[in-house]
Amino acid sequence: MSSAKDSLTVTDNRTGRTYEIPIEDGTVRAMDLRAIKVDDEDFGVMSYDPAFMNTASCRSAITFIDGDKGILEYRGYPIEQLAEHSTYLEVAYLLVHGELPTPAQFTEWNSQISAHTFVHENVKKFVEGFRYDAHPMGMLLASVGALSTFYPEAIQVLDPDVRMRQAIRLLAKMPTLAAFAYRHTEGHPYVYPDPELSYAGNFLAMLFKMTERNYQPDPRLERALDMLFILHADHEQNCSTASVRAVGSSHVDPYSAVAAGVGGLHGPLHGGANEAVLEMLHRIGRKENIPDFIDGVKEGKERLMGFGHRVYKNYDPRAKLVKRAADDVFEVTGTSPLLDIALELEKIALDDDYFVSRKLYPNVDFYSGLIYEALGMPMSMFTVLFAIPRTSGWVAQWLELMRDSEQKIARPRQIYTGERSRDFVSMEER
Ligand code: CMC
Repeated sequence: MSSAKDSLTVTDNRTGRTYEIPIEDGTVRAMDLRAIKVDDEDFGVMSYDPAFMNTASCRSAITFIDGDKGILEYRGYPIEQLAEHSTYLEVAYLLVHGELPTPAQFTEWNSQISAHTFVHENVKKFVEGFRYDAHPMGMLLASVGALSTFYPEAIQVLDPDVRMRQAIRLLAKMPTLAAFAYRHTEGHPYVYPDPELSYAGNFLAMLFKMTERNYQPDPRLERALDMLFILHADHEQNCSTASVRAVGSSHVDPYSAVAAGVGGLHGPLHGGANEAVLEMLHRIGRKENIPDFIDGVKEGKERLMGFGHRVYKNYDPRAKLVKRAADDVFEVTGTSPLLDIALELEKIALDDDYFVSRKLYPNVDFYSGLIYEALGMPMSMFTVLFAIPRTSGWVAQWLELMRDSEQKIARPRQIYTGERSRDFVSMEER
């Protein structure tokens, strides 16, 4: 029902004064609250929203999510259609440029990305400096941040051509950095990119190539990985993307901003959940142990990892597609006993009032780790496999931020709760 007037009328009961605050796109501007004051000295009312539960921080035309209906679209295209008909590189183009590429545009995009997959030889040297058991996400964070030292032009963030060059470098080099981190952990020689292979195929080759003259990934596994890359490409203003935008808003180079995104993603409440799910499934070990585990979750001892989402209050549409991809992969690799535990866990949780009443459904991370394990990845690489495709989202969001004339340096306010105006006491007197 449309209202007569798109505004709020607010009465300040401290003063009896009334204010009219416009509503635009279902939002009020927090800055409009500042006009509400008790007197001229007053700073004005602020909004308080820890964890940004109800605050839009930008306008964005990249990703649409309807969390109640379980809808996810990139640039208006449903994720299901992209997962079925597109490729990750095409989706990356769509996210960055806003439209699907024509054949000529795609050829150009593909060759630009291929040309930039190589990294400077010095990158190998600093990856070698990490300990043998260094977590690959730590190595990825450090090495992507360090790329700014190889491309000093990257700081010219107000130049659109410079920006696009760094965007392409980021998309192209992320798999190489990730693969180098993995080979370092394994103690194996680094494998250089193969421009003849697809984006996902080349990544598999850089991870697993040993003595073969030409490494040819199994096309079914290559397609499954590419599909997972599509599903992980963007997810609007999540923790890591919000970090990229916040850090990027200082006009630092995009490598530093993306390093912040990798940091955000690493946490177990965000992208680190795929690793945590596998640890959980290993710990549960057998179907008979599930009821005890669920009781522990309900008592608040731990969380059911891979379940729940800030935005989705319905089945995460990505989880459905990941589950389907798992079937394809297990056809090639043979099934995992952990899959049975995961399926049973999902069944029990979806039938339990604790999870139903809180609208907790499987999210993208619930089944993805099982696929990664089947592909031969160690658990520590799982979140890296999220970071590679999410780079297209981070880059697209950073480019959008840089073009947005409404944006300024991100700088939240606070409610100060500490002491005030105390006189210093010398150490001897304390
Ligand atoms: N297991 C058990 N209880 C949960 C879970 C869970 N996984 N998630 C939420 N809850 C409960 C929570 O305890 C709270 O209960 P109560 O109202 O009694 O206090 C209620 O559900 C609401 O939870 P919340 O913590 O306020 O929700 P949030 O929006 O702040 O958190 C979340 C979202 C994803 C961090 C959370 O659901 C969670 O920790 N899930 C497990 C980690 C995970 O799978 N993360 C991956 C997210 S999807 C991939 C990505 O994009 O990163």
